Amino acid sequence: MNEIKEIIEEIKIKKLSNLEILQLIQEKYNYISIDILRKICKELEIPKSKIFGILTFYSQFSTQERGKYLIRVCDGTACHVKGGNRIIDMLKRDFKLEDGKTTEDKKFTLQIVACLGSCFIAPVCMVNSIYYGNMDENKFKKVLENLK
Ligand code: FES
Repeated sequence: MNEIKEIIEEIKIKKLSNLEILQLIQEKYNYISIDILRKICKELEIPKSKIFGILTFYSQFSTQERGKYLIRVCDGTACHVKGGNRIIDMLKRDFKLEDGKTTEDKKFTLQIVACLGSCFIAPVCMVNSIYYGNMDENKFKKVLENLK
């Protein structure tokens, strides 16, 4: 509860917009807890419809609990034909990850996506906001092991 009070104070001091409030919550928890968001809305008298409208509009926000590192692996056509599926197999085998799932230690969450808009460097993966192009399963495994 103290942590929520601190967030509310920060929102007041910085006069954050609704979008910035969502970004702040996600930054702190790696996802948007609906419970916490409701409490903040109540405390600051923000209409829930306004902030939930923003929450559902932007794909950057997740209401599912996520790990510290969000891994996105492209399984679009360009990446798939260049071996993106082998990266996905490695994540399932070596990190026990499945699409939408988080490792037990809350380090990694996997999202398999259709295209990351960088087909020219296929196969492409992302970790949080960083792109990794021309990947293969061994190179990407090393990237993740360096984050452990
Ligand atoms: S198909 Fe993978 S980045 Fe476009």
